[in-house]
Amino acid sequence: MNDEIRITGIKPGDEAAFCACLTPGDTGEDNGIKRRWFDGRTAENFGARLAKTKDGKAVGMIQYVPAEDSPVEGRKLWFVYCIWIPPKKRNPGRHMRGKGIGKALLKAAEEDVRSRGASGLAVWGTPLPFFMQSSWFRRQGYTACDKTGIQQLLWKQFQEGAQTPQWRRNPKPVPRPENDDAKADIVIFSQGICPAMNMTRTRFEQAARSFGSDASLRIVDVSDAQYIRDWGRTDAFFVNGKEISPGPPPSLAKITRIIKKEIRRK
Ligand SMILES: CC(C)(COP(=O)(O)OP(=O)(O)OC[C@H]1O[C@@H](n2cnc3c(N)ncnc32)[C@H](O)[C@@H]1OP(=O)(O)O)[C@@H](O)C(=O)NCCC(=O)NCCS
Repeated sequence: MNDEIRITGIKPGDEAAFCACLTPGDTGEDNGIKRRWFDGRTAENFGARLAKTKDGKAVGMIQYVPAEDSPVEGRKLWFVYCIWIPPKKRNPGRHMRGKGIGKALLKAAEEDVRSRGASGLAVWGTPLPFFMQSSWFRRQGYTACDKTGIQQLLWKQFQEGAQTPQWRRNPKPVPRPENDDAKADIVIFSQGICPAMNMTRTRFEQAARSFGSDASLRIVDVSDAQYIRDWGRTDAFFVNGKEISPGPPPSLAKITRIIKKEIRRK
């Protein structure tokens, strides 16, 4: 890695950049949700590292939590929610990927959780040729251990006898909305850790409001670890019981169309 890049914890003054995933222009619709989530974190239930240039600009981040506070089951394990180096188009003039920054961030996270007694670190990835790729983690010494849909779980074991992690399997059914008369019942599980998911939540709320009493909305706040354990979910979106897989945040127009279709169907 370039000598001019340093790996640090989140220092006073870094919070805004961290909560905007280092791309502040994109996250206006996050609505402060990530910041509220971040403010609820403690040294026991959260860890993060930033990669910074000499001039103090953060160009990469990794964030992780104990498995107990995550959608993963495991004892004395930690789970990486995401590692992110913004691509060139969001880092004008700088191409930061492929320079070893990702490897350095992951290594720093491993050292951090090992020093806190972790028996292993779990990560998730997908086979898609973008986003967090399982192949990249395999190259860093991670082994696949479970799968749900396209979300592959991988881990690196630090201690003999460590328990292999697995995805939590939604133990509780999705709750019913509060208003049974509505034609579109929208249920959102919202954790707060991901600005893209927070943006999607904000758009769902906005779209739901535009249908008045035809749409009911229920937000299940899973920022509390107990709820993640109960439901095995972090962020998820349901309309009339059907899960809407968000991917990159769908536009307000698209979400409005989805809800309208359900209302017409009833
Ligand atoms: C994945 C990511 C963290 C990697 O960081 P990076 O700094 O670009 O990667 P590094 O330079 O540290 O690692 C490069 C190594 O990985 C290899 N590599 C790169 N892409 C790879 C891939 N898709 N599969 C396997 N190996 C890959 C390189 O060949 C290199 O190997 P080497 O060390 O043997 O030379 C970064 O590209 C990224 O942020 N991608 C987007 C992830 C994302 O969408 N996150 C948001 C999730 S919510």
